[in-house]
Amino acid sequence: MSVMRTCFKVIRLRLLLLHFAIPGDGGLEMDMLGDLESLQFEYGIQEEDRSWLYLQGRSRGLMIKACAHATFFCKLLCNLRESFHEKQTSSCPLTGLLTGIPDDDELKVGIIGGGHLGKQLARVLLQLVPIPAENLRISTRRPEALDEFQKLGIQCFYHNPYLVDWANVLFLCCLPSQLPNICLEIQTRLEKGCIVYSFVAAVPIARLKLLLNHTNILRPQYQCVEDFVNIWGANKDITAALQDPVILQATCLYSPAGGIILNIKWLEGVLYAVLNICTARDMPHLQALQLLNELLLSVHFEDCEKDGASCPKFQLHDFVSQIYSKNLSQQRPFPWFDLTAVQLKETPFSQHLSASTALQDHLTYRYCDSFGISLPQEQQPGVSTGSASQ
Ligand SMILES: *[C@@H]1O[C@H](CO)[C@@H](O)[C@H](O)[C@H]1NC(C)=O
Ligand SMILES: *[C@@H]1O[C@H](CO)[C@@H](O)[C@H](O)[C@H]1NC(C)=O
Repeated sequence: MSVMRTCFKVIRLRLLLLHFAIPGDGGLEMDMLGDLESLQFEYGIQEEDRSWLYLQGRSRGLMIKACAHATFFCKLLCNLRESFHEKQTSSCPLTGLLTGIPDDDELKVGIIGGGHLGKQLARVLLQLVPIPAENLRISTRRPEALDEFQKLGIQCFYHNPYLVDWANVLFLCCLPSQLPNICLEIQTRLEKGCIVYSFVAAVPIARLKLLLNHTNILRPQYQCVEDFVNIWGANKDITAALQDPVILQATCLYSPAGGIILNIKWLEGVLYAVLNICTARDMPHLQALQLLNELLLSVHFEDCEKDGASCPKFQLHDFVSQIYSKNLSQQRPFPWFDLTAVQLKETPFSQHLSASTALQDHLTYRYCDSFGISLPQEQQPGVSTGSASQ
């Protein structure tokens, strides 16, 4: 019995190795591996979670959640750029000659890696953010395999430094084995403000920081819970799945539905990333706070008071220590935050967020709203408590 089990393990391992030896999507190999195709994404999850790899539903769930959260992040950044522009044109009407966001200020998204995950991500960002085709580029060893995207006008090539010079946000969707070389190629080209968003699960954030000589990095982490109902559906297309309200709700912040929980440190990283973008523009911190409030806390539940006056609002001391906040003069921007430290350590914001369910609820609501769905009644605050802990 145990011999058989060992053999089985070895075979599985072979399949894994075969898969990881193939850069990108080898069409034939993909078919041979069938339901193992999405494993590349989870290849580095913790040892104790390895056995979960074989549950296809779960790996599909991980892919769906990862794509949903990346979409939310890009939507936020697009909204942020829109409000920069509105502020500029309204405060200086004489110089506000431009209409719309000037081209060079639109969000430019680069993806490194054109395998299964890279392709799914590109589709989702194109359709659900939506990122215009000219603002999305993909660098991969086999650009010729990305016909589908080239036809849409997306530049696909194999030149990582060129992509990095252009992008504001860079998604890493490569294999763990390719990462060291990629980092070597791009680390001297990364601008301080470029946000690197890593899906390479095998590489922890502290190592990424070293490999890239960079701190503006986001890396979502997902934890699998033991009992779960597979609500992730079976159709292949992630974009379609994300238009299903049940699936979308399962991707919500704090939602344990479908057996996968997002580590909420990611959300902290996202908020501090937004502050860094304001700081890069030398924006006084009060203005940055106001922007953050508009961006994240201006969507309210039905039973919030009409003007939302009693609803949570971000304050300076939610993000920096009391001492620091007392001493920060009004016109000064926020300090530059090391996002890797934000995701690895306690911050003023982690304490604030964990203590305030009203804030958690509002952020969850904002998340759903950005996808055009509203939470079912029983999950709204005031109607029930503790629904997130089921
Ligand atoms: C890391 O980046 C800083 C500037 O951001 C630079 O001064 C330093 O030399 C870089 N270190 C390495 C090892 O490249
Ligand atoms: C407060 O700010 C002043 C100047 O802005 C600086 O010299 C001083 O070190 C700061 N104190 C603290 C505790 O950060």
